[in-house]
Amino acid sequence: MKTRQLGNTELQVTTVGLGTWAIGGGDWDFGWGPQDDKESIAAIQRALDLGINWIDTAAVYGVGHAEEIVAQAVAGRRDRVILATKCGLRWKPGGTTPFGQLDAKSVREEAEASLKRLDTEVIDLYQIHWPNPDQDIEEAWSTIAELIEEGKIRYGGVSNFSIDQLERIQKIHPVASLQPPYNMLERGIEDELLPYCAANHIGVIAYSPMKAGLLTGKYSKEGIARLPMNDWRRGSDQFKEPRLSANLNLIEQLKPIAERNHITLSQLAIAWVLRRPEVTAAIVGARRPKQIEQTFEAGDHVLSKRDVEAIDALLEEHARAIGE
Ligand SMILES: NC(=O)c1ccc[n+]([C@@H]2O[C@H](COP(=O)([O-])OP(=O)(O)OC[C@H]3O[C@@H](n4cnc5c(N)ncnc54)[C@H](OP(=O)(O)O)[C@@H]3O)[C@@H](O)[C@H]2O)c1
Repeated sequence: MKTRQLGNTELQVTTVGLGTWAIGGGDWDFGWGPQDDKESIAAIQRALDLGINWIDTAAVYGVGHAEEIVAQAVAGRRDRVILATKCGLRWKPGGTTPFGQLDAKSVREEAEASLKRLDTEVIDLYQIHWPNPDQDIEEAWSTIAELIEEGKIRYGGVSNFSIDQLERIQKIHPVASLQPPYNMLERGIEDELLPYCAANHIGVIAYSPMKAGLLTGKYSKEGIARLPMNDWRRGSDQFKEPRLSANLNLIEQLKPIAERNHITLSQLAIAWVLRRPEVTAAIVGARRPKQIEQTFEAGDHVLSKRDVEAIDALLEEHARAIGE
């Protein structure tokens, strides 16, 4: 599997990394319905067996649960896996509702808790999950720089940051990576953030390349209505009208492009994200071994100019249909 250097770091990451949000399960406000831990562990181990060399998780996924599952899955091969996790979204003891907190004491407490849950001595990439509260991002970033000095973290990254926020913290310590949303339905980073990251040697690890499963083509309106009540996607704008019909129409029109490439719609969505040279890797979510078996090869698939142009034309039409 292809690897790329993450920003200015010494990390060589496979172009597909495994995302573990869904693996956190349904027992919190942003869960994905019931999830079987055995399947989660099997999915992570399958991903590693297939050659994927890094895992993205977060303290808040399943309010601590996803990190514990990752630790169990990588036991015995921790030294061959790059672990990326996140801080900044906390929850009350016994609670299920995340809130943003980024003061120094909180970041330290979170790093210690993640080290413990991940059963590791060092976190390879520690990311601020959201710039919230905004006035504390410098304090959080300075604390991450201290934790790097202390050897508890190898590199620091951020997620969901703007250029202005990146500039503020770059003055304190270099940013290894940005983790933004990027997929055919969310292209907000293309014009400014991606070129900024390339110019400043900040790696980009793009999240939700299949828009939480929507771009796999498996969801019909009826299928979405059948999602469990505790699956956050029921409330997501992209899974609801007025966008949903336009999204499903787009997916229909993508099918012939996937077919002539002999790839699935999921692989097409991931390969499309990776077509941009500024994108280091895509974080691909999977909750079952079969899912990652179907998607991992997209990391090596290069779309032709003709296909990229055809997708662009469809996306322009889609943008017009939703009034953007
Ligand atoms: N930093 C942030 O704020 C942030 C936000 C979002 C995500 N992320 C990271 O990015 C990762 C990936 O994003 P994501 O999980 O939102 O979405 P994604 O990768 O776009 O989609 C993942 C979901 O698609 C479905 N799926 C996966 N492979 C499939 C296949 N081969 N066939 C059919 N369905 C398939 C699965 O859900 P179902 O089977 O239930 O449909 C899976 O959970 C997350 O796990 C997380 O690590 C970060």
